[in-house]
Amino acid sequence: MPDAPARLTEIRGEAQAAIEAASSAATLEELRVRYLGRKSELTGMLRSIGDLPPDQRGPVGKGANEVKHTLESLLEERVAGLEASELDERLRTDAVDVTLPGDPPAASGHLHLVTQTRREIEDVFLGLGFSVAEGPEIEFDYYNFTALNHPPDHPARLLQDTFYVDLRCWRGDPLRGHPAQWPDRRSGCAPRRDEVLLRTHTSPVQVRSMEAQPPPIYVIVPGKTYRRDSDATHTPMFHQVEGLAIDEDITLADLQGVLLEFARATFGSEREIRLRPHYFPFTEPSVEVDVSCFNCAGSGWVGSGKDSARMPNASHPGPCRLCKGSGWIEILGSGMVDPNVLGFVAEGGYDPERVQGFAFGMGIERIAMLKHGVPDLRLFFENDVRFLEQFGP
Ligand code: PHE
Repeated sequence: MPDAPARLTEIRGEAQAAIEAASSAATLEELRVRYLGRKSELTGMLRSIGDLPPDQRGPVGKGANEVKHTLESLLEERVAGLEASELDERLRTDAVDVTLPGDPPAASGHLHLVTQTRREIEDVFLGLGFSVAEGPEIEFDYYNFTALNHPPDHPARLLQDTFYVDLRCWRGDPLRGHPAQWPDRRSGCAPRRDEVLLRTHTSPVQVRSMEAQPPPIYVIVPGKTYRRDSDATHTPMFHQVEGLAIDEDITLADLQGVLLEFARATFGSEREIRLRPHYFPFTEPSVEVDVSCFNCAGSGWVGSGKDSARMPNASHPGPCRLCKGSGWIEILGSGMVDPNVLGFVAEGGYDPERVQGFAFGMGIERIAMLKHGVPDLRLFFENDVRFLEQFGP
């Protein structure tokens, strides 16, 4: 080997520069193979030490081993350094900024518009000191009609208006709040066909609530009701909220004040109400309550400044479609509780000479339709998500 020490110096210089310039683990591995691998020049030199003249063997062997160790530790250092900076880089790019706002939670559905509206109505009356009561949907004729002063020939009692329940074949007690379980084919018991029905309104809970507690009483009763009706504004099942207030010295003015509060909370603080004479068997006097139209601000006319954009014809001047030009919208039925009704619960402290009060009943779907411009009652129960989704949060 002509000038082995000089060659070793060259190899060391060349390898050292290459290792320092390398910027990836893969390049360093290539350099290790090139300079220290089995076929490398350095390994070749170490292997052929024995071929050298004896006086050169010691110094060349020593020098070659030194170069080998130097390069090995250089490589090791560079690999460690690179790994550390690769880790730094990854820590930098993978960093999570915990101060960023979180992802919004995945959509998880929402309450049905009927439920939302029921809760809004409940909130208004809870705020006025009423509490919430419930009653059975399968009801006695007694509570639904008789104790509510319906004359025997009242049309609501007829089969074509009311769903009667044939009790002959039901086991359990559907009338006391325990749902009937299944048809009982063995008993053959046959209660009279006209005694039990699907309640046609929530008003039977007036009498039930008075049976359950003495006056004063301030309750509202949300729930399902059933009638043999079906068109764009009637479905066989719908929802009502009943109201009942019985105390000493309650007058029609109290009814008016409470319902004005409700109308303003529900349809806007600008609203007015008016009471129109009407007839219900269980209130005397009876009234229907109208709220001033919130589409035309009670003017009956849209397109002339004060109207809102709620209805489709808002931009074309003309009679308001929501209130049909009258400026008023009917929202509920009510009246002063007929003393005859109190007579059915007189023993529970409802002496008609001493206490009196008012009752009202409204359709939940009707309130929701008015508030949200829903054109057809049946939409509530078709469960088309394209409809339901419009009333999400
Ligand atoms: N129950 C009546 C109806 O369904 C409404 C009503 C309730 C009227 C209470 C007066 C008092 O039409």
